[in-house]
Amino acid sequence: MTAESARDNQAAQAGPAADRSITIAHISDLHAGSSYFIPNLIGRTIDELNELQPDAVVVTGDLTDMGFRQEFKTVRIFLDRLACRQRVIVPGNHDSKNVGHIHFEELIGARNSDLALPGLNIIGIDSSEPDLDSGRIGRERYKTIETRFVEPSDVNIVVLHHHLIPVPGTGRERNVCYDAGDFLEVLLRSGVDMVLCGHKHVPHVWRLESLMLITGGTVSCMRLRGRSKPCYNLIVLDRSRARIYRKYPFGAQELIADFELAGKRFCELEK
Ligand SMILES: [Fe+2]
Ligand SMILES: [Fe+2]
Repeated sequence: MTAESARDNQAAQAGPAADRSITIAHISDLHAGSSYFIPNLIGRTIDELNELQPDAVVVTGDLTDMGFRQEFKTVRIFLDRLACRQRVIVPGNHDSKNVGHIHFEELIGARNSDLALPGLNIIGIDSSEPDLDSGRIGRERYKTIETRFVEPSDVNIVVLHHHLIPVPGTGRERNVCYDAGDFLEVLLRSGVDMVLCGHKHVPHVWRLESLMLITGGTVSCMRLRGRSKPCYNLIVLDRSRARIYRKYPFGAQELIADFELAGKRFCELEK
């Protein structure tokens, strides 16, 4: 076997089936009910996703601003327009204000969820605490992660609201999960490829060893830091690569990261 064919063979065994790609849309921090909430932005995003037809949609929390029932009802109206039924949606700290978790469970779904597609596993974790801005995973849940991802060639993704590593361009650091260090170790040990999160309203991608830590910006809220703009992520997985694009509602799309799935190595973008 030549080196090239060996590489192709290895790539074919990694991630989604070789004959198709998987697209995951990652939106975050809608903040419905906030005075900074722009309904047109999430409306446009839903239209764009319905046209794109992703295989799965991930929403990383702060759907609402205060956890009020009417705010969740507003979000539900938009989500009902979303054609993709394969979803992982987790609450954020704002959704857990004012006992908002009961409305989340009733109008959105379970706070912890699981989605399996061929070659792809996604776990959604509620990292929020009632009426606190900070987040935690909790040692009692580590075992679930460690035993969930049993197929090393699958693409394994963990979804939560809070970030695990500080995000550049966000000012004074706060609200990294209390147990981020221990949880990162669990993720690396468990063969997790990507973490999708939100919270900071500033999009970013970090690489930590074999792990990609992908923070989504806010999709529909003008509570912005610096020059960041409302946006969402598109993650395209093919047989050997993960490409992450940043998409601006009504606007352009740009490639921001390119990840080799077979070796799980981060690749420099071509200039
Ligand atoms: Fe937020
Ligand atoms: Fe948040």
